Amino acid sequence: MPIRMPGTARLWAAGLFALTALGAQAADGPVNAGPYVPSPQSVVADMLKIARVGPEDYLIDLGSGDGRIVLTAAQVFGARGFGVEIRDDLVRQANAAARAQGVAGRVHFVKADLFKTDISRATVLTMYLLPDTVNLLRDKLATELRPGTRVISHDYPLGGWDPVEMVHMDLEAKLPISGVTTTLIYLYHVPENVAGRWRAAVPTSVSRDAIELDLQQAYTRLRGEARIGPARVPVGDGRVIGRKLSFTLNAAGKVHTFEGEVDQESARGTVTTEGTRAAWRAIRMTKAD
Ligand SMILES: C[S@@+](CC[C@H](N)C(=O)[O-])C[C@H]1O[C@@H](n2cnc3c(N)ncnc32)[C@H](O)[C@@H]1O
Repeated sequence: MPIRMPGTARLWAAGLFALTALGAQAADGPVNAGPYVPSPQSVVADMLKIARVGPEDYLIDLGSGDGRIVLTAAQVFGARGFGVEIRDDLVRQANAAARAQGVAGRVHFVKADLFKTDISRATVLTMYLLPDTVNLLRDKLATELRPGTRVISHDYPLGGWDPVEMVHMDLEAKLPISGVTTTLIYLYHVPENVAGRWRAAVPTSVSRDAIELDLQQAYTRLRGEARIGPARVPVGDGRVIGRKLSFTLNAAGKVHTFEGEVDQESARGTVTTEGTRAAWRAIRMTKAD
């Protein structure tokens, strides 16, 4: 999983403090997910490039401000989609810009609470929101978005989600926004739900008989246990990124590294043992709640 450049915790924390300080919690009504602070246009372009947005995509921006992410996605990358924004004036401004730019047939903006918005249609979801809000959204993203959907977060990570890519840059334009030049863009792929009990046919280098895997999942992380004959072996380094699955089993003194692809109730891939690769496949016997 390529991580282009990890951000420094110190600078990230400084930026986090600045944006948090700008936000104010509304006493009643929708949760204030962040003040209106537009992403610099160069960051918008990078967010869309990192997500590899194209004409096939349906992009949703949560807290769309003046609409620049959705408008750029339509104008430059040919995508469709919508932005959801709580401020009436910004929604009107963004819809007027869509008409002026000739993309109103492909994108629109709605005044609504992003926490209550149906996001299931997205193939790409973007956000530039307060760090706490980003984490409040983790379950909504995991359950409403289809596996493989690309999620882009400007500056703040989704806790417990392993990014596919994290890009760090220094931009003067961020100084008035967050007090630091540090800019981080996180790309995630929504993980397939793989929790449950699986039966796997594996090469004889792992086991002569089929093995049973009991997998528990928290976002992109997997843990659990494998039954290999009479032995019970912990699942190590388990990850699900989009539909891609990987984990290790340490059995009879050998480390077996499994990689594969999940398609709802079945999985297949290769297992590498001491440099030798062989095929494995599995079906899910019981899905976890
Ligand atoms: C930091 S700005 C990001 C604007 C735009 N996405 C961008 O990157 O340029 C966050 C936006 O979220 C909006 N917002 C805050 N809470 C919201 C909520 N509960 N529902 C919808 N929009 C919200 C704010 O009004 C603000 O315009």
